[in-house]
Amino acid sequence: MPISLSGRDFLRIADFSTPEIEYLLRLAHQFKALKLAGTPHRYLQGKNVVLLFQKTSTRTRCSFEVGAMDLGMGVTFLDPKSSQMGTKESIADTAHVLERFYDGIEFRGFAHADVEELARNASVPVWNGLTDLWHPTQMICDMMTLQEKFNGNIKGKKLVFMGDAKNNVARSLMVTCAKLGLDYVACGPEDCMPAQDVLDIARPIAEENGCTISLEQDPAKAVAGADVIYTDVWVSMGEPDSVWEHRVKELMPYQVNSELMAKAADDVLFLHCLPAYHDTKTKIGADIYKRFGISEQEVTDEVFKSRRSVVFDEAENRMHAIKAIMYATLK
Ligand code: CP
Ligand code: NVA
Repeated sequence: MPISLSGRDFLRIADFSTPEIEYLLRLAHQFKALKLAGTPHRYLQGKNVVLLFQKTSTRTRCSFEVGAMDLGMGVTFLDPKSSQMGTKESIADTAHVLERFYDGIEFRGFAHADVEELARNASVPVWNGLTDLWHPTQMICDMMTLQEKFNGNIKGKKLVFMGDAKNNVARSLMVTCAKLGLDYVACGPEDCMPAQDVLDIARPIAEENGCTISLEQDPAKAVAGADVIYTDVWVSMGEPDSVWEHRVKELMPYQVNSELMAKAADDVLFLHCLPAYHDTKTKIGADIYKRFGISEQEVTDEVFKSRRSVVFDEAENRMHAIKAIMYATLK
């Protein structure tokens, strides 16, 4: 039977079968080819989408906006200051209002339960643009990027996540690797290890697909033979400022630097969802340097700018991937 995701929400990678994820990846590559060829693809002309952001964003917001416009759709962006949601109006009431205007709703927020509540109450597809627990649109783009770099063959590759291996991106990567047959290693200190709930989701899937999920606290051991090293910020959006001191101290040994990259496979790739603290040219980067004397955090400037780093291809692919997700669920 042909795959159809029409009318589905997109809240977690765990909600999708391997063939469904592969279908989204195929669509994302097709949309990229159309865009690069300059071929118009206004397949969803006449539809409209709304983007709700409770946290800041560059890539996700721009991907939804440009993706929607390329597909011929109208777009509305709402942030907490410019909408009633949460302060004067419940999530359920907001869903019932927005479903009357829009064909799809994107939500970036804090509690994952909020996007679930929105989806439960809205009759149109809801897309999770990041919550404290999951970042599923990032996953389609990450796997798409790896397919491009490894000539379509990602099954059996070893991906190591270095650093805060319990965060939304790391959790999503673990499940995604399990679904697509990549060996996944979470590498970080004890209290940054993935929570049991995500291990319980990912391990049976990995077993079914003949790949492995492992936890490792020694960075050198973790990256031996790694095809991909992935990292993310040490403190995620929504976490209190007070966690910085401890995080910096415990995660410094897990920084992705040239020495660590040299211990992986010769053609290892470096991925990062971005934004990244690889220098002091940001407000937070400069502040952390002032407070703790660290000018490069989860990744060094050298690795970030090296030829093994594919972070800007990855960032571009956010747009193609999100376009595929909107198209598949709205068509
Ligand atoms: N990777 C990512 O989600 O980036 P933004 O926070 O800029 O959307
Ligand atoms: N873990 C990061 C991802 C940002 C795209 C955060 O939640 O802030």
